[in-house]
Amino acid sequence: MSTMLTVCSSQDLAAGAMRLTRWKDQEILIANCDGVFHAMEDRCSHDDGPLHEGRLDSAACTVECPRHGSIFDLGSGRPLCLPAYKPVATFPVRLESGVIKIEVD
Ligand code: FES
Repeated sequence: MSTMLTVCSSQDLAAGAMRLTRWKDQEILIANCDGVFHAMEDRCSHDDGPLHEGRLDSAACTVECPRHGSIFDLGSGRPLCLPAYKPVATFPVRLESGVIKIEVD
């Protein structure tokens, strides 16, 4: 059974911004791509780079790992270039009455 985890008000995450939340032993980044919110595990599949410290391209809806430069699609979690080749987990996001919530296991 899944859980809806409350992250923050949508007004607290501006377009082009990212923030972290935690669920159990996982850190999850939440990104605002020009008004569309995405949630993805904050751990690069190449060598555990902290993706929230990378560069967010909100128009392309991608984040670049700060360690070795793999770019991840925030919608699918798939890497778009090497050295990472495995996807990162993503989480469904819902906006309920202006509050960002993510669905976690
Ligand atoms: S740790 Fe992310 S590309 Fe190497």
